[in-house]
Amino acid sequence: MKTIEITVKEDHKKSRIRKEIYGQFAEHLGRGIYEGLFVRPESGIPNEDGIRTDVADALREIKVPVIRWPGGCFADEYHWMDGIGPRESRKKIINTNWGGVLEDNSFGTHEFFRLCEMLGCEAYINGNIGSGTVKEMEDWMEYITFDGESPMSRLRAENGRKEPWRMKFFGLGNESWGCGGNMFPEDYAARYRLYQSFLHDSQKEPAEKIAVGPAGDDYDWTEKLLEKCYRRNQPQRHGFMDGLSVHYYMYLHGWDDKGSALSFTDEEWVLTMQRAYYLKKILEKHAEILDRYDPEKKIGLVVDEWGNWFRTEEGTNPGFLYQQNSMRDAVSAGLNLNVFNKMSDRITMTNIAQMINVLQSMLLTQGAEMVKTPTYFVYRMFRDHQDADLLESAVSGNYDLSVLADDPTAPAVPALSESASMNEKGEINITLTNQSAEDDLSVRILMSEPKSYTAACCEILQGDSSFEDPHGLRAHNSFEEPERVRIQPYTQVRKDETGFVLTLPAASVMHLTLRK
Ligand code: AHR
Repeated sequence: MKTIEITVKEDHKKSRIRKEIYGQFAEHLGRGIYEGLFVRPESGIPNEDGIRTDVADALREIKVPVIRWPGGCFADEYHWMDGIGPRESRKKIINTNWGGVLEDNSFGTHEFFRLCEMLGCEAYINGNIGSGTVKEMEDWMEYITFDGESPMSRLRAENGRKEPWRMKFFGLGNESWGCGGNMFPEDYAARYRLYQSFLHDSQKEPAEKIAVGPAGDDYDWTEKLLEKCYRRNQPQRHGFMDGLSVHYYMYLHGWDDKGSALSFTDEEWVLTMQRAYYLKKILEKHAEILDRYDPEKKIGLVVDEWGNWFRTEEGTNPGFLYQQNSMRDAVSAGLNLNVFNKMSDRITMTNIAQMINVLQSMLLTQGAEMVKTPTYFVYRMFRDHQDADLLESAVSGNYDLSVLADDPTAPAVPALSESASMNEKGEINITLTNQSAEDDLSVRILMSEPKSYTAACCEILQGDSSFEDPHGLRAHNSFEEPERVRIQPYTQVRKDETGFVLTLPAASVMHLTLRK
């Protein structure tokens, strides 16, 4: 077994890992909102104000810190006034992006903020810059946030809500280079400047404004947008632009051959890890461009859509993007989350796509049943990093998995990924992933003062082994077997004079808490 050493410097704190790095995305797409999250009173599914109780409980458990809503592509066709007022008289529209189904607007602004209140999470609203007017966006801001007498605050009160809501983030458009308007960066930059000028925000702490950033590795977009929108010598955060979004999906062999969510080869497992690791390279390059304009790091990178995008499950509506979720999703999510932690000096938020029943989900539902996915458990294991300080850590003895394609978008990926943080109680949380589909790793965690710490908790996520799948790569939870993959205690951590020693099995995710 190969031995890998991780040196954790417990006295060297780096950047704050903002809780929003663990954010979610919920779009009006397929069964993401309707059925998955929000049900009708007559559905017989236990709910509070339409929000499923089982789902809300599960989301609270992973401490969802922020939700991005209402889209996605849907955002640039969403007219918020359709979604307020008495439900029975709300306008019914066609969801043109996602399956052409009827959208009855029964989940709107009030319902979204009710959800955020129930979960105790922040709101990230994505405005419509594609087909919506400046005035519409201006009014939405006033409707949500204005605390005083105004036409929009009066309307809000008439609809049952006197107090304004707290909105921490506001996005100006979505994928404006694609479904959001097919714009050139210069055109979007001009629009961004215009729309943001009329976003009058009277909140004590104004919403962070997020601009549409690049599609994955489109560095030209970032460069051109910043050239037109970066304002030197003027306050940036809570000012002109506070975040730049990046979208990145992992399609196994490309858009036309996304691969199966469950029937994959061991080689395709590695390729998925390589695709996941490409996100690190992409973010590093965008960060380099940002560093040139904004060395003080006032504009955050906001990865507000990312995740594995496999073929839609057979027999389901292809426009609904429903896919199963296996240990492959769990390990690739953990790998990316460790990368985000390590880049938390620049990354201020990420929102995995999407929360329920769509793409790489946390939860799957079927009628009144609900299943927690392997990716859900990774968010559960990583939740202690939220709002903690990243600790300096370095790895030696790591090695790259064999490269499968001569493709720069699938770079060599190391076997092990890690990150460590210290919370305000002084506890150290370390998260590890083993990307190898076959090698167990012997891991030694070196610290300067190991004597003062004990391993207070250690937990592992690993697929069950079978003859066909000895390392449980394809293990997943289904409605028939909802608890096949779950977090298990790991009891074999040994302590010696230099630190802690453990075995990280192939294709697994681990979380270790060290306490004084
Ligand atoms: O998450 C699904 C879709 O992917 C989003 O609506 C869009 O922004 C992206 O292309």
